[in-house]
Order: sequence, then C-alpha cells, then structure tokens
Amino acid sequence: MSEITAITRIARQAIETAKDITDLEVLRVQYLGKKGELTALLRGLGRLPKEDRPSAGAAINESKGLIEDLIQVRKEQFEAAALRERLDAEAIDVTLRGRDGDIGGLHPVTIVLDRMESFFRSVGYDVIEGPEIEDDYHNFEALNLPEHHPARAMHDTFYFNPNLLLRTHTSPAQVRTMESNDPPIRVICPGRCFRVDPPDPSHLPMFHQVEGLVVDSDISFADLKGTVEEFLRVFFENEDLNVRFRPSYFPFTEPSAEVDVQCVHCLGKGCRVCSHTGWLEVMGSGMVHPKVLEYSGIDSEKYTGFAFGMGPDRLAMLRYGVDDLRHYLDNDLRFLEQFR
Ligand code: DAH
Repeated sequence: MSEITAITRIARQAIETAKDITDLEVLRVQYLGKKGELTALLRGLGRLPKEDRPSAGAAINESKGLIEDLIQVRKEQFEAAALRERLDAEAIDVTLRGRDGDIGGLHPVTIVLDRMESFFRSVGYDVIEGPEIEDDYHNFEALNLPEHHPARAMHDTFYFNPNLLLRTHTSPAQVRTMESNDPPIRVICPGRCFRVDPPDPSHLPMFHQVEGLVVDSDISFADLKGTVEEFLRVFFENEDLNVRFRPSYFPFTEPSAEVDVQCVHCLGKGCRVCSHTGWLEVMGSGMVHPKVLEYSGIDSEKYTGFAFGMGPDRLAMLRYGVDDLRHYLDNDLRFLEQFR
C-alpha cells in the first residue's frame, strides 16, 4: 500500500511540473503504459496473499484512475494555453482600415478627352454624341460631299452596304445637331471614327475625333481663331503658344484652314517630332459652308458658323510623348500605368 501511495505522490508531482504535452506522454507511458509502474504492480498482485488482493487491486486501480485524471487535466491546460497563444498570434485588428482594391486608371486618350470637354463646357458648349454607324447622307452628302466627289477617296470607308457605314469622322454630328436644333448652336462631339487603315505608328483603323460647331448670327472667322487659340493655349498649358492658320480645303467649310501649333517638343526650333518644320498640325477648321447650313435647314442668309475637327489621339501623343498610336490598344499595363 505504501508503495502505491509513494508512486501516486511522485507521479502527481511529476505531472504537475511537466513542461509540455511531450513530457506528459512520457509520464503516461512511465506509469500507465504496458510496462508502466502501476501495470507492473497489477501484474504482481498474484504474489500477494489471497485476502489482500482485492484491496490492493482496488488501490492500484484507484491510483491509476487518479493519475489518468491528473494527466487529462494537465493536458487540457496545455491545450488551452496553446489555443490562447495561437488566437493572440492570429488576432485580426478589426479597427484597421481595409486594403484598397486596385481600381486601375484612366486611359491617356480618356484623360485628354476629359480635358477637352471641360474646356469647352467652361465656355458654354454642350457635349453631344452621334451614332458610330452612320448613313451615307450624314457622313458625306449633307457635308457637301456628293457621290463621286474626289474628297470621298480620302476617307477609306468601312461599308455595311452602299448606304450604311462606320462614320469616317465626327462631322456628321454637325448635320444631326443642325437638323434638330435652331441657332444659337454651340456643341462639341467627341467620339470614335473608323477608316480602312492598317495600324502603324501614326494610323489606327479606329481613332477619335472631337468635332466642334458654332452657329449663330454674326459668327466670323475671328470667333473661330479666338476660340481655337484659347483652347490650344489652355490645353498645352502655354499662354504664349504660337498658333497659325494655314489655308486648306474641306468640302464642308469655306474658307477652310488647317491649324498648326508651334512644336511642343522643340518649341519651334525644328526636331524629329515636327519633321524639322517647327510646327505641328492639330486640327482642320473653317466657316461652315452655306450649302451645309441649307442642307440641314438653317437659313444661310441669317446665320453663319464655324466648325473644327481635331484628333485627341494625336493630342495625347504630343502631351505625353507617346511615339506609337498602337500603344493605346495594346492593353500593356506597363504603358497604361504611367498615366494614373
Ligand atoms: N472631318 C474632317 C476630317 O475628318 C476634320 C474637319 C475639318 C472637321 C474641318 C471640321 C472642319 O469640322 O471644319 O478630316
């Protein structure tokens, strides 16, 4: 009996001072395993006098139960401590700000279109849209480009059928605006245009234009000049930017002019960007041809107007130093991420 008591006492002490679950397992084997101390005592029962066996057996089993309980309690302590430690380590601070998702950035052409729109809105223009699928009448005829007009050859047109096509410029929006509005008219129409052009550094089959149209009484070439010059100086953020109007020809304007700005790269000295001329062509413009006013039901005796058409893709190239239009459509993040 005293041996059982001694084993139990030592076991209790050992269990209480065990450092971890591994220690506990060693103790369990030492006392309760097949070759453990208590198991050995149980085996030795046979050597006791018969009358002592029941009480000794009971005492051994009681000790066994006690040691099992002690090990179980200690084990649960270790497990609880381990859990607490893990929860502390993995705790989430719910008061921390969340991580922002990557929402991307605006395309350089979109940024330029936004800048153009905000300038023209600020001086009282409406921003309108026209259909990308146009009919021959609005894209050509009503712009004083009748069938067989030689200027049609410059528009390499995508046709759906002889009457329906992808617009080759945003000028048909002029016609649609004048058809459904009376002067005074002050609009720009940004949008996509299409021409059968194989892609190269300066051509894309799909590109953008921003059309401008003003119709009112007493509109003169001076209004066109003032508006265009002011826009270009704001756009290029250069108050002293040199702008020149060069005589040109468009069927829908008379007189017509092409507008050049002093090269934004070399400031007019001459470089590769401006082909050593010092000037960059940025838009077509002119006074709306009386025939075009009449086609759309506007009295050309009473009203005059000016119009212009420019290429935001090219303006974005100049503003950001992009050397190849095809970058716009490549979806290469290394390119696109530079404009955020
Ligand atoms: N529509 C012309 C083009 O695509 C550009 C243009 C020139 C538009 C003169 C105009 C203008 O409104 O007055 O080449």
